[in-house]
Amino acid sequence: MDFIGGISAGKLDADNWLAAQLAEAAEFLRERLGMLRPQIGLVLGSGLNALGEEIETPVRIPFIDVPHMSASTADGHVGCFVAGTLEGEQILAMQGRLHGYEGNSAVDVAFPIWLMALLGVRTLITTNAAGAINDTFHVGDFCVMSDQINFTGRNPIANAQAAGMAERFFSMTDCFDPSLRALAMRAGREEGIGICEGVYLGLLGPSFETPAEIRAFRAIGADTVAMSVCEEVIAARHGGMRVLGISLISNMAAGVGAMDGEGGASPTGGEVLDVGKANERSFSALVRAILRTMAQ
Ligand code: HPA
Repeated sequence: MDFIGGISAGKLDADNWLAAQLAEAAEFLRERLGMLRPQIGLVLGSGLNALGEEIETPVRIPFIDVPHMSASTADGHVGCFVAGTLEGEQILAMQGRLHGYEGNSAVDVAFPIWLMALLGVRTLITTNAAGAINDTFHVGDFCVMSDQINFTGRNPIANAQAAGMAERFFSMTDCFDPSLRALAMRAGREEGIGICEGVYLGLLGPSFETPAEIRAFRAIGADTVAMSVCEEVIAARHGGMRVLGISLISNMAAGVGAMDGEGGASPTGGEVLDVGKANERSFSALVRAILRTMAQ
């Protein structure tokens, strides 16, 4: 079954309020996008919103203007769609995202991702700032997500409406596209940017983790941790998109680096945004190199 069967709003199941809301939002955005037909979606995470300003011939649409979408309330998140071109590719970027910790449901978080799918976006690049659980990683490096552990306790497809829009049961194996991962690793190396690959674990937040939680997450195979992405990736795979996930390592996770159980990292929200700001240039260079390679 295709995502929402590729059908128009008029033919949707009248009982499916979610599909009807998405169709209404898509109609609104289509009108604002004019001739633009973006095939690549880009979610710009904490401290990484600046790349949205580099998009050429931008069409800016605040989230709150889009029917049925929630506003973004997180620090360092603008809360705006920016459509236009970057490296010759038509893209639809989200300058900021919606998080569960802002009080959004899993469906709210997934809504803009399904919306992108409905607008014809085939590839999603989702980015965030994350803490490193793996102590061989470095602050300021970028980590390509090789797989994810959804520890939010939620799933946007766990309701009749979302399940009615596409297959209810779908594979999450290779949820991060292997060829896009290889392409991103190559692009990072060629640009001389610190790049690594690892398993991402997503939480609801907003409290940072305890050192004991971080030790437990390391034991189950996580390399990085943050409070976003997992629900988006599930929605994107549900919508049939290829996904690339990239974290900026903004800090070492709680307790990492402790000696004899004492001390170690204790992240703050300010640190996360500051490291994003300090690495704006390399983030832009990495995403641009990825877009150029994708176009070839
Ligand atoms: N934990 C959770 N979320 C985060 C972190 C972290 O260490 N860094 C950035 N987002």
